[in-house]
Amino acid sequence: MSLDPFSSHKMSEASHVYPILWQGDHILLVDQTRLPREYGLVEIRRSADMAEAIQRMIVRGAPAIGVAAAYGMYLGAKEIVAEAVDVPERQVFLEKLEAIAGLLRGTRPTAVNLFWAIDRMVALARSTDAPITGIADILLQEAQDIHLNDLKTCYRIGEQGLAVLPEQPEKLRILTHCNTGALATAGYGTALGVVRSAWREGRLERVYADETRPRLQGAKLTVWECVQEKIPVTLITDSMAAQCMKEGRVDVVIVGADRIAANGDTANKIGTYSLALVSKAHNIPFYVAAPLSTIDFSLADGSKIPIEERNPEEIAKVGDTTICPPGTEFYNPAFDVTPADLITGIITEEKVVTPDELRSLKR
Ligand code: MRU
Repeated sequence: MSLDPFSSHKMSEASHVYPILWQGDHILLVDQTRLPREYGLVEIRRSADMAEAIQRMIVRGAPAIGVAAAYGMYLGAKEIVAEAVDVPERQVFLEKLEAIAGLLRGTRPTAVNLFWAIDRMVALARSTDAPITGIADILLQEAQDIHLNDLKTCYRIGEQGLAVLPEQPEKLRILTHCNTGALATAGYGTALGVVRSAWREGRLERVYADETRPRLQGAKLTVWECVQEKIPVTLITDSMAAQCMKEGRVDVVIVGADRIAANGDTANKIGTYSLALVSKAHNIPFYVAAPLSTIDFSLADGSKIPIEERNPEEIAKVGDTTICPPGTEFYNPAFDVTPADLITGIITEEKVVTPDELRSLKR
């Protein structure tokens, strides 16, 4: 597999999925709202367009939106200088950059990778002595560093995950939720990265992919990725997971994360919590795979993790068809928090830890 999200994009490389592609002076995003119907790319040249792309979920998944936001900060720094009549004072430049950071931070509240990446870019802009006209280039290098590191991190998560997979049966049935694959990261994936590694090592019989109501990231994106790479995949609705476990079809569950609190409580796509509960009831190991950048050590537990509520239309409609009567009231939380005691282990790029051991990873 080539490891190059910076090279010119070719459609024939679709099985080596890179959702974010640096193109020399702009960014291409794979439009995840159009998959699997069509594989389309969106050109991003301005920070406000990047913010809109994150908000509309053209790019999505915790690590991927961190990378996208980092590029958004670079674009913003470039705009500030390009749009000023004279080179702005450092203080004015930093204030404008902070406003762009605010716009990007306001796109989605739950995935901490977004804030982690933006904070890193702001801190760098504040600390550098470079002339104002050189800051955008410094931020570009940082964005590329975040981008490439995420890809390397995913490969390491894949390796770490392999080491803790159950020894029996030799070929595993892995159930996963939402999309945590190449599309949700710089490439390869977290939980789906472990699945990919298991497939390459001959340790995978098949993946069960939850469809993941209401936006169907499992059905649309995870299944698409698996089909691209000929990884055997079976699509189920979210409510079928317990029955599949009862029938002995699932050996291990691996999911991703949007934010992990210091005690191991984990926010992930809505439905993850009930999956953890039914895994426990069936004595099936339940792993969370995530980079260290997804851990929010500032939160003691999951109770303070902000949960995004999205447009009710997402549950009111299936495709273009409204499925409920006029006057229906809605509640549409996009994430839930799985308590740490339901989690067997957290697979990071450094090592696999139990929730109790998570604090040992704090740097
Ligand atoms: O709303 P989304 O599609 O951005 O949610 C994605 C998830 O919940 C993923 O499981 C999580 O971001 C981990 S991605 C490696």
